Amino acid sequence: MIKYAVLVGSKGRGSNMAALLSGSASGSVPAECALVVSPKAETPAILRAQAFGVKTEVLPYKSECYGEKLMALLTENQVEIICLAGYMTLLPAGVVEAYRHRILNIHPALLPKFGGKGMYGNFVHEAVLAGGETESGCTVHYVTEEYDEGAPIIQKRCPVLSDDTVETLSARVLDLEHAAYQEALTHVARKIESGEHGQED
Ligand code: GRF
Repeated sequence: MIKYAVLVGSKGRGSNMAALLSGSASGSVPAECALVVSPKAETPAILRAQAFGVKTEVLPYKSECYGEKLMALLTENQVEIICLAGYMTLLPAGVVEAYRHRILNIHPALLPKFGGKGMYGNFVHEAVLAGGETESGCTVHYVTEEYDEGAPIIQKRCPVLSDDTVETLSARVLDLEHAAYQEALTHVARKIESGEHGQED
């Protein structure tokens, strides 16, 4: 079975990570999580991963030779797909190059709108509300050297309601994120298994 790693962020709520791990545990996602990497110990995400019985590693973004250490962890654990979930920095160029078309990220808006540096978490939903959008959603996309620039794999849409707040909108989008991420990982894992990997759609 194809192995993947989830890279979570220092805030590490881990709800998207948990959606992927539950998909693997139930068999609906045809891939196995070999590793969760967090920049910080004992975040909610790390504790949730451990409750799933998944191997975890802590690697601070500012560690010396961060890129090489991350590559070593991925290689040692035979990781074929990387899923970013709340990961808050650009991946080292060497990792992007080594895993091109095999790195996925989830973004809580309909890219290319509301993406790019500084557009994360509630900043995204605030901008969607301030822009008077009538529709929002989420995008799972391939990761390149630039923030939020890679080709989309899956988008899911929901309405923005006239009385929405950041809290109500983000909760509606988060439900979509979990389903979209499971579907996108399934899609990429199947492509790799069938030998089609290498193109962006
Ligand atoms: C999600 O909103 C995701 O779109 C963004 O970071 C957030 C992570 O949330 N990239 P969680 O840790 O998966 O709950």
